[in-house]
Amino acid sequence: SDVVEFRGDHQAGIVTPAQDRMHFVAFDITTDSREDFVALLKKWTLMAERLVHGEETFDGGAVDGGEYNVPSDTGEALGLTASSLTLTIGFGPSMFDRFDLASKKPASLADLQHFPADNLDPRRSGGDLCIQACADDPQVAVHAIRNLARVGFGTVSVKWSQLGFGRTSSTSTTQATPRNLFGFKDGTANLKAEDPSLLDDNVWVAADDDQEWMAGGSYLVARRIRMLIESWDRTTLKEQERVIGRSKGTGAPLGQKDEFDALDFESQGPEGTFIDKTAHVRLASNENLGGVQLLRRGYNFTDGSDGFGHLDAGLFFIAYCRDPLTQFVPMQLALSRKDALNEYIQHVGSAVFACPPGVEESEYWGSTLF
Ligand code: HEM
Repeated sequence: SDVVEFRGDHQAGIVTPAQDRMHFVAFDITTDSREDFVALLKKWTLMAERLVHGEETFDGGAVDGGEYNVPSDTGEALGLTASSLTLTIGFGPSMFDRFDLASKKPASLADLQHFPADNLDPRRSGGDLCIQACADDPQVAVHAIRNLARVGFGTVSVKWSQLGFGRTSSTSTTQATPRNLFGFKDGTANLKAEDPSLLDDNVWVAADDDQEWMAGGSYLVARRIRMLIESWDRTTLKEQERVIGRSKGTGAPLGQKDEFDALDFESQGPEGTFIDKTAHVRLASNENLGGVQLLRRGYNFTDGSDGFGHLDAGLFFIAYCRDPLTQFVPMQLALSRKDALNEYIQHVGSAVFACPPGVEESEYWGSTLF
């Protein structure tokens, strides 16, 4: 079956083997009524559970609700299967300024600092809450977000959204490593679902970390990273491999043979260490960062062209971690200062969200908080 179970200790869509497609949306809350907002979360939860089972949003659905009624489902997923749809909700820092929630705001949930070379577009950043939809069929992901946004009218409004087509990370050893738009295998050294103790250490929030309502949840960091495709496409293979620190064909670390060989940062080749001092994998590695790791779950995107003859393409980077301030921030600081990749990328959007734990029977999205 292609159904990913909705309920459980953790939300689906985090360590779930990464699906091929994504529709990510950030909302702003447009109501002052806590009651209305909680009612929406309850309604969304019921809808989400139906959607991930490949069912229409409500009884009646697209065509059986009576011809003089507005259909309760928009209909474009009729006849499509569940397609491994997962729906994952997260709450942004600004949400806690509302509804008297300030005392429940986790210390780790703060707008990210400005990193060197950030060129953030406020229209693609932030948001009071987010929903990440991932599925193996793009129409299923888009249908889910469209219907959730539709019933949210009057309570939330879409702030920004992003489509992604092609996962850039494997999150399970059962998956082959996909490639990003620079043509390199991406996700080789990622945390994997098969290593639960590493996930407990690095992804899932523990009850005594800070706010108890977040126990079993995780923090989501989203970065829209534009890739300067045209510059990259004019560089030699040798330079591309120096920048990443791995071979483009096999994905093996430079100086090694196979994709999953260990990275060797010390051994010298004829031109110094095999892996350059400014190579992306060196700077991002837990060896360089005193053990820091996170779960990457990003997607490629191409949003047409930018009006100047360049593709508006890149990586919609998504990371899940137990604490963005001690994991994502030091990693991105190291990268933003020294990474050879910086010549070919630019961070243009940024957001951080607290994803609550999974919903048990009779609970709703965020019920541990409200
Ligand atoms: C590894 C590409 C942005 C964190 C890699 C690898 C590639 C890559 C090809 C090697 C394969 C692998 O182990 O997954 C890119 C590109 C980026 C980008 C093209 C931007 C467009 C980022 C960002 C972060 C990050 C923003 C985090 C702040 C990592 C980590 C690794 C990695 C932790 C594994 C390092 C290790 O070997 O331990 N990336 N990456 N990457 N990247 Fe990125």
